[in-house]
Amino acid sequence: MTAKSSIALPITLVPLAVLTSSCVHSRDMMSPAGPAATRIAHLGWFVLGVFLVVSVVMWGLVLWTFARRRGSLDTHLPWNAGADQRWITVGGFAIPVVVLATIFIVMLRTMNAFPMGGSEMGGMTADIRIVGHQWWWQVEYLDPQVARQTMTANEIHIPTGQPVNIELRSYDVIHSFWVPRLHGKVDLVPGAVTRIRVQADVPGLFPGQCGEYCGPQHAHMAILVVAEAPADYARWLDHLRADATTPISPPALDGQRVFLDRQCALCHAIRGTDARGTVGPDLTHFASRHGLAANTFPNTRGPLAAWLTHAQSLKPLAQMPNLTILTGEEQQSLVAYLESLR
Ligand code: CUA
Repeated sequence: MTAKSSIALPITLVPLAVLTSSCVHSRDMMSPAGPAATRIAHLGWFVLGVFLVVSVVMWGLVLWTFARRRGSLDTHLPWNAGADQRWITVGGFAIPVVVLATIFIVMLRTMNAFPMGGSEMGGMTADIRIVGHQWWWQVEYLDPQVARQTMTANEIHIPTGQPVNIELRSYDVIHSFWVPRLHGKVDLVPGAVTRIRVQADVPGLFPGQCGEYCGPQHAHMAILVVAEAPADYARWLDHLRADATTPISPPALDGQRVFLDRQCALCHAIRGTDARGTVGPDLTHFASRHGLAANTFPNTRGPLAAWLTHAQSLKPLAQMPNLTILTGEEQQSLVAYLESLR
């Protein structure tokens, strides 16, 4: 192998490495991780194939027209009107109708394959209820035993290898639940209940995004699906049901007092405390979540501290106010408290 080719090989592998690594936490609908998304990806590849065939034929005809052009217009008169019309009838009408009708039928078959109504789900109740808010996701884990129902926000865990029925609602504007590697977009419509069944075949993190413009912070309304082995999922769900533990460290204890005394508790709930607000996300196990502010930022100390005092700079018009009344010490203790909510 020459020196040149030994350099060229790794370089050609770079795009491949980027492509494959981007699949891990990607939103790439063409890298499906469950049955519903697989069907959509198959439809996508089929439509892409048809598009490529049509493009090749069209460009072939255009090039052929240039290649065969001979002489002036005069030498071509009179035109053969019958033959020209055949081109238009067949190429401009018949073939497009057949192609578009085929794509339409295949698309309808794909859509029909998804159980989306109550009856199609065999009267099965939803496992998870998701409520869209401007601009975050409320997530309720349903259970026939009301005492076992529980709540979180902006991040949902599901067990791998089994279908999960999700019920979607909204009480403000239309949002759209879209986790591209697991399912297509499904709207959350005020006054209506929509349902989808998602399944992840492999464990992993599957980011999603609100897919319907719902106001100025629509782009900052992201959701994360964490798929994990059924045993891990069961453990996680048990932990989610538990109340928040009382913090041990003095700064975190101070933070809890700040949380309950300042306006935080008016909007947020932390189970196991007197905070029972329902305007904003439930924060009972806040520190165990990956993201902050509907996954706008990573859930780390810096963004969290900034979020508490300058939410309106980070996510303008969100319901979270700038808590500029906090002293630096109160801000730090509040961060310590929130970070203790594992
Ligand atoms: Cu919610 Cu866009």
